[in-house]
Amino acid sequence: MFERPRGGERAVLVRIGLHGPVENEDLEELVQLAESAGVSAAATITGRRERPDPRYFVGSGKADEIRQAAEACCAEVILVDHALSPSQERNLEKLIGLRVLDRNALILEIFAQRARSHEGKLEVELAQLRHLSSRLVRGWTHLERQKGGIGLRGPGETQLETDQRLLGERVRVLSRRLEKLKLQRETGRQRRVEIPIPSVALVGYTNAGKSTLFRSLTGANTYVADQLFATLDPLVRRVSLPGGSPIVVADTVGFIRELPHELVAAFQSTLTEAREATLLLHVIDACDSRRDERIEQVNAVLTDVGAGGLPQIKVFNKIDQLETTPRVERNEALEVQSVWISAARHLGLAELMDSVAERLSRFAKPRTVRVDSRYAGTVRARLFASGVVKGERVLENGSIELSVHLPDFGARELARIPGVECFYSEPSQTCAAEGGYLQFPPVKRLS
Ligand code: GTP
Repeated sequence: MFERPRGGERAVLVRIGLHGPVENEDLEELVQLAESAGVSAAATITGRRERPDPRYFVGSGKADEIRQAAEACCAEVILVDHALSPSQERNLEKLIGLRVLDRNALILEIFAQRARSHEGKLEVELAQLRHLSSRLVRGWTHLERQKGGIGLRGPGETQLETDQRLLGERVRVLSRRLEKLKLQRETGRQRRVEIPIPSVALVGYTNAGKSTLFRSLTGANTYVADQLFATLDPLVRRVSLPGGSPIVVADTVGFIRELPHELVAAFQSTLTEAREATLLLHVIDACDSRRDERIEQVNAVLTDVGAGGLPQIKVFNKIDQLETTPRVERNEALEVQSVWISAARHLGLAELMDSVAERLSRFAKPRTVRVDSRYAGTVRARLFASGVVKGERVLENGSIELSVHLPDFGARELARIPGVECFYSEPSQTCAAEGGYLQFPPVKRLS
């Protein structure tokens, strides 16, 4: 139902400056987006307007210019770097006689090519179908062509109604499957947070170098490419901080300016990693001429998805191209704010890991954990495996008491385990003291 440009297709790229001239960086990003979708730029058309034209988005003269350019370079597809209304897209297609993809459809197309996990694929297909459904209206002739096959068309249905019905059914099936997967993922995540290891998520503008850093930090063989959105699904690995404490590092999808809201939904599985992280490493291409803008755009998306308030270290990457040396910057309170590194050249990685350890150590507080003898085995093994135990003693009734260093969230998770109680410090002191206890009561869920 949804026809996609195939790799190697020739495209005319169109970008209109709405409040000023078209900037080179915008065009470069569009070319990169096109290449990431496997489409080569045969010609580029730019222009300037005060506001979009309701009929074609561009003016009718510019629309004709696009048609002529497409003919001259034998283009097969038109990529417009704006969000087009369904009717603008349809009018352009009628005039030019070629398929027109707007920015949202182009990004969705890249997502569709990149998604690897089952959930990622379903999320992208759903977003594509939703995008398409707004375009399934009368006059969308190239989708109204006859379809063969018994039972495809219901009695008295026009082709358009059949398409709409099939699309609606597929959307329902996909939504149900995704709901189920989401539940499964939540259960998996809960199992993971039971072991109180802090998690660090790499976030940042697309192509900033997140996957390269992830690989340098974890030794994992992730896909690194000079392509936008090379990483779509979250990747999670466990690594040790200097001093031996383990953390979980997650690589996430790259963000991009003007990220349409329908696409934010398609990010859900990866964004959950960001939203639930203890600390964010905001990876920034230090050589990007629009560095500060990008930082704001990423922070805006983080706020959108509910991760705006999380602690963050800015990681300025690619310093090999700036010929500077690795360095750590702190605020007046001496808290690490940013670290300058080169992920590809392995410069500044030790400084980065030290900074992560330092920031995370602020979350970890000394606690005492008392575990009922019946559950001591597994809980004790888990705590030792996560490297947070500082001491241990056996009580008269056979329970064990462990001195640990844990952040609040870890203590909260731990207290949910049946037979486990968690205190700020020595239980004998804090139990009596008002407010000394953790916010939650020491739950004994023996079921
Ligand atoms: P998305 O998947 O699009 O979000 O990209 P990403 O942020 O994961 O970037 P990725 O790691 O794929 O790197 C993008 C490009 O930057 C690749 O060509 C890398 O080789 C390059 N790169 C990454 N780190 C460095 C660095 O330290 N120095 C230089 N010169 N290039 C780097």
